[in-house]
Amino acid sequence: MDEKDMGTDLAKVLISKDEIDAKLAELAERIDADYRGEDVLIVGVLKGAVMVMADLARTLHTPVTMDWMAVSSYGMGTKSSGVVRILKDLDTDISGKHVLIVEDIIDSGLTLSWLLSNLRSRGPASLEICALLRKPDAAKVDIDVKYVGFDIPNEFVVGYGLDFAEKYRNLPFVGTLAPHVYGG
Ligand code: IMP
Ligand code: MG
Repeated sequence: MDEKDMGTDLAKVLISKDEIDAKLAELAERIDADYRGEDVLIVGVLKGAVMVMADLARTLHTPVTMDWMAVSSYGMGTKSSGVVRILKDLDTDISGKHVLIVEDIIDSGLTLSWLLSNLRSRGPASLEICALLRKPDAAKVDIDVKYVGFDIPNEFVVGYGLDFAEKYRNLPFVGTLAPHVYGG
C-alpha cells in the first residue's frame, strides 16, 4: 500500500519509509553496542509494533529471541481509555533475562508505564524500551525510554503498524489522515 492507494484519506506523509529505515539502522547500532555478548529478548507490543519489530530485528546483528504481548488501552477511537488489559501475555519466563520492549508509539505513556511495572515484577535482568515514535504528552509520565526514533507533534498518526479503527497499518510510512476520515 502506498500514498496513491490512500486517495483523499491521506493528509500528509510525516515520516517516509527511507527515514524510518535510516532511524532503525541508527537505533540498531546503539542496541548492538549496548547488548554486546548478551542474550536479548525483544518484546513486541501487538499489534502496532509488528512492523518496527520485524524491521528492527532484521537490522540488529545481536541474536535475539522474540515474544509478544497484546494489551488494550485504546478502543476504536483516538483517545486513551486509561485502562490497560492483557489480551495476550508473554509465552516466555523473563526472569533473569535482558528484555527490550519494542513499541510503535508513546502517547500518554499510560500503556508503557503499566507494562513496565508489570514486567519489572517478573524479575528481568534488565528492562529497557525502544519506541519508534513519541508524542509530547509522554514527557508528563516519568518513564525512561532509552531508544526513541522520532519525537512527533501531538497529532494522530497512522501507518507502519499504527491504525485508525484497525485500518492503515500496512502503509510503509507514517502519516496523518484527512479530517473526513474521522467523520469531521
Ligand atoms: P498511550 O498509552 O497513550 O501511550 O498509547 C499507547 C498506544 O496507543 C500505542 O502503543 C498505540 O498503539 C496507540 N496510539 C497512541 N497514539 C496513536 C496514534 O497517533 N495513532 C495510532 N495509535 C496510537
Ligand atoms: Mg502500541
